[in-house]
Amino acid sequence: MAQSALTIDGLSVDFEGFKAVNGVTMTVDDGELRVLLGANGAGKTTLMDLISGKTKSTDGRVYLHDTDITNWEEHKIARAGIGRKFQIPSVFKELTVRRNLEVASCKKPGVFANLRFGFGTDAERNVDEVLELIGLTEEQDRIAAYLSHGQTQWLELGLLITQNPKIILLDEPTAGMTQAETHKTSEIVNNLKGRHTIIVVEHDMAFVREIAERITVLHLGQVLAEGNVEQIENNPKVREAYLGSKGIS
Ligand SMILES: Nc1ncnc2c1ncn2[C@@H]1O[C@H](COP(=O)(O)OP(=O)(O)OP(=O)(O)O)[C@@H](O)[C@H]1O
Ligand SMILES: [Mg+2]
Repeated sequence: MAQSALTIDGLSVDFEGFKAVNGVTMTVDDGELRVLLGANGAGKTTLMDLISGKTKSTDGRVYLHDTDITNWEEHKIARAGIGRKFQIPSVFKELTVRRNLEVASCKKPGVFANLRFGFGTDAERNVDEVLELIGLTEEQDRIAAYLSHGQTQWLELGLLITQNPKIILLDEPTAGMTQAETHKTSEIVNNLKGRHTIIVVEHDMAFVREIAERITVLHLGQVLAEGNVEQIENNPKVREAYLGSKGIS
């Protein structure tokens, strides 16, 4: 049986009488890629806020492997291995792509030796791997300020995976991207499959179809359905609640 990376049990948050997340229970396996779907206001971002500790829950538990991390401070949850890509950019615009990743790999616990002795082969190899994974090997010597929107997002993702988080949370990673960039992002996410446990919130169904394994649908703060793309697309409750009469487009 696959080991679960994240276990969410009856998780709720009550914003002065309004439960944006209301008794959510779900389990994400080690190395799994889970997509969260749901209409605007369904509670997807709030659920990520609860997992990452940005928002404190009012009921329920969150476990990272066997550790109960419920309502830990945000920085402590990050250190425990839950990494989140924020809207706020963390890329150093004046540095090259490669240098950005080198700086990020220096912050990684366990490679502090690099700070004292300069970059060793381990760090180099790690940076090369990450460049390959995010598809920026050829852009490695470019100054980050000159990257396109999509490339900047991939570098952000690279900075995150350099930290080697156990779980990566991505909230609408393709927002603002062109179709080509969105497609490339699906390739990158597919590259990460199995290496990291990833939870992705996404609206773009074309993107979801390219990456999805299991999907959890949220509706009014609750889990409405769980299944693979086909099961979700054919689920009448999902069509009614999320997609209206239009169906999944
Ligand atoms: N701090 C807060 N206080 C009160 N209500 C909030 C707070 N944060 C979120 N909400 C409400 O909770 C609901 C869920 O919001 P959330 O941002 O989680 O939705 P979402 O599924 O991410 O939607 P979208 O697809 O638009 O990003 C919304 O009705 C929102 O207005
Ligand atoms: Mg949201």
